[in-house]
Amino acid sequence: MTNLSTMVLPSQPALARDDFPADFAWGCSTSSFQIEGGAGLDGRAESIWDRFCQQPGKIRDGSNASVACDHYHRWPEDLDLAQEFGMNAYRFSIAWPRVITELGAKPNQRGLDFYSRLVDGMLERGLQPWATLYHWDLPQYLQNLGGWERRATVDAYLEFVDATTRHLGDRVKHWITHNEPWCTAMHGNWDGMHAPGQQNFKAALQVCHHVLLSHGLAVPLIKSNAAQAQVGIALSLHPLRSASDAPEDMAAMQRHDGLRNRWFLDPLFGRGYPADILEHCAADLPDIEATDLEVIATPIDFLGVNYYFPETIADAPEVPPLHTKLVVLPDRERTGFAWEVAPDGMRELLVRIKNDYPKIPIFLTENGSSYDDQVEVDGSVCDTERRNYFMRHLDALKQARAEGVDARGYFAWSLMDNFEWAEGYLRRFGLVYIDFVTQKRTVKESGRWFSAFLNQNK
Ligand code: FCB
Repeated sequence: MTNLSTMVLPSQPALARDDFPADFAWGCSTSSFQIEGGAGLDGRAESIWDRFCQQPGKIRDGSNASVACDHYHRWPEDLDLAQEFGMNAYRFSIAWPRVITELGAKPNQRGLDFYSRLVDGMLERGLQPWATLYHWDLPQYLQNLGGWERRATVDAYLEFVDATTRHLGDRVKHWITHNEPWCTAMHGNWDGMHAPGQQNFKAALQVCHHVLLSHGLAVPLIKSNAAQAQVGIALSLHPLRSASDAPEDMAAMQRHDGLRNRWFLDPLFGRGYPADILEHCAADLPDIEATDLEVIATPIDFLGVNYYFPETIADAPEVPPLHTKLVVLPDRERTGFAWEVAPDGMRELLVRIKNDYPKIPIFLTENGSSYDDQVEVDGSVCDTERRNYFMRHLDALKQARAEGVDARGYFAWSLMDNFEWAEGYLRRFGLVYIDFVTQKRTVKESGRWFSAFLNQNK
């Protein structure tokens, strides 16, 4: 392998690892379904995403993740790369269908053993393991009974969490209960873009409530199984803009914020669900039992923020239930996935969380961009736009810290190109390029930059 740390850093923006504290967590994020493959191996059960991939038209390139990056077999090589990048942390997720393979079954030792080896591999390489317990791959046998819409799925989740944290709690000190509950609930059950593909807003709100409830119940359970565990949740949050100064658009932006951001932040911080949305969506509200909101507000140790892009919102009386719509502004810089590139949006979002909510350590648990990477004739991958994306977002994070935001870590999405949900393999987000035919890994220019940045002054 080439010496990753000899690359000369471009001068703009001026950024050094020393601009961040010495104990800052530097890592990359991955998720089980997107990278592992090994679909039927060692007893792994079917997940809702395996089933979703089989339905025609659901995945844009008609692909599935039964092999993906073959990380199930190639994980030592993948962890080597994270280590060479100079990272000190690594975020991964645990596939529930590997751990509890049938309803009510006892934990599957072979599934747990895989994660045990993986965690040991991280520790051997100086990577602090950050485990996400739910990154969307619900066992299909639970979906057959109603999935997250059914309250009993919360109990099934707690059994899975109990088995996993008992097994890994001696070595994993950072736990994330859920990744992006908004996506679990809304993409999975409202717009139907994600598994299980339901289109029912009321069901989506019920799913959301059960996911948040399961989070609150999991916090003390994790702490009882994993000594000194730090427990948090990773939310997808967005800074918002109004399409105009008209009061209707401003009010629409508030409603959008209510469901996109406050619907999660408010109950987690003990404020209950936001009153404006409870009123606006009165016909679709979930069943909530007496102590649920107290449980959801169980104190956490950190907040995980996944930041990708801001959104611009307009009033749309014709679009139920929120009567809002997204406006795509033509003059904006965008990634290959058409997501707006707005580093200052990250600073703005973090400062808003600091100003509006109680003090809590924040970790950027995902941030990244997809571009249409090509392998050059000499075998290199020059993803200068992605490199600049990372530099500019880290600069925004530095500014947020200067404004008093207690940000303590940054995880790039993602270590390597992978299965990007409904987009299949069409969207590449990695610091490492994957040839999905040969499984060859090639460090991109962005990965070389990260390595040079993190290995500075070492
Ligand atoms: C996030 C997901 C992650 C990945 C990135 C691009 O919403 O958490 O799995 O797909 O987007």
